[in-house]
Amino acid sequence: MHFIRALTALLVSIATLLAMPAARAAGSGGDAWGSNYFPNILLTNQDGKQVRFFDDLIKGKVVAINFIFTGCSAACSMETARLRHVQEMLGDRVGKDIFFISISIDPDNDTPEALKAYAEKFDVGPGWSFLTGNADEILKLRARLGLYMPPEKSKALGPLDHDISLIIGNQATGRWMKASPMENPKLLAFNLGESLHNHKVARTKQAISYTEAPVNQARPSRGEELFRTRCLSCHSIGPGMEVAKGRKPIGPDLANVTKIRERSWLARWLKEPDVMLAQKDPIAIALYNQWNKLAMPNLKLDDKEVAQLLNFLDEASAAAAATAAAKKQ
Ligand code: HEC
Repeated sequence: MHFIRALTALLVSIATLLAMPAARAAGSGGDAWGSNYFPNILLTNQDGKQVRFFDDLIKGKVVAINFIFTGCSAACSMETARLRHVQEMLGDRVGKDIFFISISIDPDNDTPEALKAYAEKFDVGPGWSFLTGNADEILKLRARLGLYMPPEKSKALGPLDHDISLIIGNQATGRWMKASPMENPKLLAFNLGESLHNHKVARTKQAISYTEAPVNQARPSRGEELFRTRCLSCHSIGPGMEVAKGRKPIGPDLANVTKIRERSWLARWLKEPDVMLAQKDPIAIALYNQWNKLAMPNLKLDDKEVAQLLNFLDEASAAAAATAAAKKQ
């Protein structure tokens, strides 16, 4: 199911690239994707500073642009967490030669202060602007970027796909691609850090390379693969497996979670955390309050995936405990 969605996203990206006029494909971004193409709308960032979309945010830059609103739980938090993961992988290049841009689709409610609080909730790094502005203009911008999806359609796709709402590109060369929020953060980091720079820059320093080492030296299990692509943006399993060193974690560390919680509670939680919270499960409520009122998204996992993930959590917790014990000696 997720694979099909990812594949669809990929096909959409290919279709977008193929549909580009020759001038764009040839890389002369200046004309086809220049100031005539992008509305140069006035936006306000999370620090209250006014900026122009084209002149200040994208002109001559490699950027990742998405649309969010601070009142949205599952889809946006998933996307923001993943982008933060990508930001971590790109290290200090974000803010230098790569910029992240999140624009509110609910600008009437998302004041600069609300956006600042949102950025702080996710403890994002520098080089990432959260912006609000005029609702009509933002709507036009979304359409221009090809990221507008009518509500009926996004509903049919389910909450996590409310939009495949990420576009990455290099304004100078005119190369733009749509990306799925479900995509592997590594691939996004590669596209932003290397492919969109035409591989001209030094290889991206893998800021988190140590988390890349599989728990078992053999090929990672399916559970580990699932964890790395779906959960790692928000959760660590002991200090050996955390994405954002020195930043606030988005969700709890999961070392030992299989020991402290009932298996049946965990299995249900992985399948429908949103339902458990709505039904006021006491542990779910306590966790929600403890974790900044940021709800864990429903990741639409099936029974098999849940079992594979729980096995991996057991395995990785044991590995984390062994590492900790070895360090003490
Ligand atoms: C967008 C961030 C995010 C993602 C992605 C995410 N989680 Fe969570 N998770 C949370 C938050 C936040 C909490 C704390 C509860 C709450 O606020 O709803 C949580 C809670 C949990 C808990 C309960 C911890 C405890 O102490 O009982 C488990 C288990 C868990 N997550 C596992 C997973 C697994 C496995 C995945 C991947 C399949 C995953 N999570 C993906 C954010 C996330």
